[in-house]
Amino acid sequence: MFLPRLLPMLALLTSGAAHVVAGPATAYCQWQSVDFAIAAPLCGLQGDALRGRAIAADGHAGNCIACHQMPIPEADFHGTVGPPLHGVGGRYTAAQLRLRIVDEQAVNPMTIMPGFYRDPARANRIADDWFGRTMLTAQQVEDLVAYLVTLK
Ligand code: HEC
Repeated sequence: MFLPRLLPMLALLTSGAAHVVAGPATAYCQWQSVDFAIAAPLCGLQGDALRGRAIAADGHAGNCIACHQMPIPEADFHGTVGPPLHGVGGRYTAAQLRLRIVDEQAVNPMTIMPGFYRDPARANRIADDWFGRTMLTAQQVEDLVAYLVTLK
């Protein structure tokens, strides 16, 4: 059960977006990281925790459970490539969580976690479908932040 979930993500990271469908294009909002945190919500949007929970488990959206164990018991498999996210809302502030979703490479340049909201203008070797796009929309990132802060 592990590989089917992880493979689309790896395909996207390496060669192309074989099984992952790019979401609708939305305007990119610049963000600023200070002290390993992004204080301002992306595009000034308000997140929704329930939507964030769904995005985390959705193989065509966040697919966070491909690499992380999360308290989402109805999802059949959770990967162990990354640390479990139980209690992550107690370890990090919303601003710190936002940067980790947006661009984990800013925290750890060696990470294999994709940057879900990096500046598309700075992307290289990106599959055509993703040109000019982020992996998640600003709204999806904010929904995930709203969800993760509830994991205390
Ligand atoms: C391809 C695997 C992969 C995917 C997919 C992935 N992550 Fe990660 N994530 C990691 C790894 C590995 C780390 C460990 C830290 C590092 O490598 O920098 C991590 C770290 C984190 C952390 C910090 C946890 C801690 O305790 O320090 C958060 C928060 C996080 N991820 C959230 C997410 C969310 C939300 C998603 C979905 C949008 C996601 N991750 C998708 C691999 C992944």
